This record gives sequence, structure tokens and C-alpha cells, in this order.
Amino acid sequence: MKNTTSTIMQMKGTDKKISMLTAYDYTTAKLLDEAGVNTILVGDSLGNVILGYEDTISVTMEDMIHHSAAVARGAKNALVVTDMPFMSYQTGVYDAVTNAGRIMKEGRAGAVKLEGGADVCPQIEAIVKAGIPVCAHLGLTPQSVNAIGGYKIQGKTEAAARKLLEDAKAVEKAGAFAVVLECVPAKLAKLVTESIQIPTIGIGAGADCDGQVLVNQDMLGMFSDYVPKFVKQFAHVGDIIRDAVKSYIEEINNGVFPAEEHTYKIDDNIIEKLY
Ligand code: KIV
Repeated sequence: MKNTTSTIMQMKGTDKKISMLTAYDYTTAKLLDEAGVNTILVGDSLGNVILGYEDTISVTMEDMIHHSAAVARGAKNALVVTDMPFMSYQTGVYDAVTNAGRIMKEGRAGAVKLEGGADVCPQIEAIVKAGIPVCAHLGLTPQSVNAIGGYKIQGKTEAAARKLLEDAKAVEKAGAFAVVLECVPAKLAKLVTESIQIPTIGIGAGADCDGQVLVNQDMLGMFSDYVPKFVKQFAHVGDIIRDAVKSYIEEINNGVFPAEEHTYKIDDNIIEKLY
């Protein structure tokens, strides 16, 4: 079944949880799609796990569009949600709508995601008014890492928890179809989930959100630079890749690969004439 923002929204309050994973390329998108994930996030985490940056600040519109289009070609049924990169919407409503439009037209996304609460509601309203679905992102917002002083749990004090709850209500009112909650105490995420009508998708926000999202390299055990507490490694694909590459090197060296079945033939008469 094709997942849309409507089908995702309808999952809230049912016994089915929304599954979201990141992908940045065609092959991975196809695998996630075939496995039945509801939605694929082309996250700006591609800055970390694909481009090797320390943070997401340097990720550009061109990066996001390039990877979004590749993912969209591989995702037949999953809803593709693509991140708006740092400074593509913070600068104002005009930039936000223009750049969201490019992500839809050139990146073939089904929705965009942006970070922030009440402060970015004018942008959310304008993008939604232009016919583009928006997923909001609250709690730990990695694009603001320099302002919040590192990657740490958010909403721990009464004031911060109250602000997060108000921000969730504000993005819902502005027209967001869903909201990602990152690194938020589980009980606060539960309260937010119960207080708004749109789905919450948690990452490090406990089991009571309406859905869950993880970076696929994290959950597949491929990315070891930093493994946050909230990550569960469902496989150790990094080990599988390293072992396969070691076998490849060994078989090249000892002549086992390529074997007869990997080799193209030519008539011996033709070859002899070339000597
Ligand atoms: O960029 C990303 O991958 C994200 C997820 C961590 C939610 O925003």
C-alpha cells in the first residue's frame, strides 16, 4: 500500500506504529521499501553518515536534492520525507517556500521536514499553504547544535518541558502533519503525544510515541564513529562488509576470484591471430 501523509496521520490512535528510517541512496531506499517501512527520511544526517562531516551545518540544498531524488526512485510505497538543510528556511518565509518547492520538484519528495517550534511556524504555515506537507522536528535539533551547546537530552527542566509542549501545539496549529521528537524524556514525549492530534515520531523519546525513526547506518551497525544511547543495532552489517571485503582481497590474491563462471569467452582462433 502506498503511504501518504494522510495514511501516516490516520495511524495515530491505532495499534499500528509508524516506522521511519533514513536512507540517502536508491539501493537502500529500495531495500527499506521492500521490507515495508512506512516512511523514509532523507535526513540531513547524510552530512554525518554519508559525507563524513562532524555535524549537519555544511549540508546544502544541492546535497539534499541529489540524495532525495535517488531515494524517491527507489521508494515505491514509502512516503519520502526530505530534510530542509541549515539556512534553507531559517532566513524567512520566502526562502522556506522556495527551497521546499525545490525539494519537491527536483528531489521528488512527498513532504519536507524542518527543525524548530513556534519560531518557525510562519515558515511551516507558508509551506503548507503552498501545498507542501511539513513534518516538524522538536527536542534535540542538530542544526542548532552550536546554540544548544552539544548533542544532549532536551526538555528536562519544567520550563524546557513546558516550552516543548507549547512548541508541539504550535507546529500542529501551523499545519504540520507529524512531528519528530528527538532526545526527549519518555514521559514528556508521552504527554506531547497525548496532547496533540498529529503523530509523534520518536528518536530517543521512548515507546509511547506514535512511531519511531532511526538512522539506518546506526540500526544496521554500520556507523561506529558515535553510537548514541537510544540506538539499537538490529544487525552488524559493518562486520559483514569488512569480512566480505577481506575475502575479496584474499581471493584476488590467491587466484580464486574471478573463477571460470565470472569470465567471458572468445574463440581461440581469433586470439591466436593477435599474437
Ligand atoms: O537527519 C536525520 O536523520 C534526522 C533524524 C535523526 C530524525 O533528522
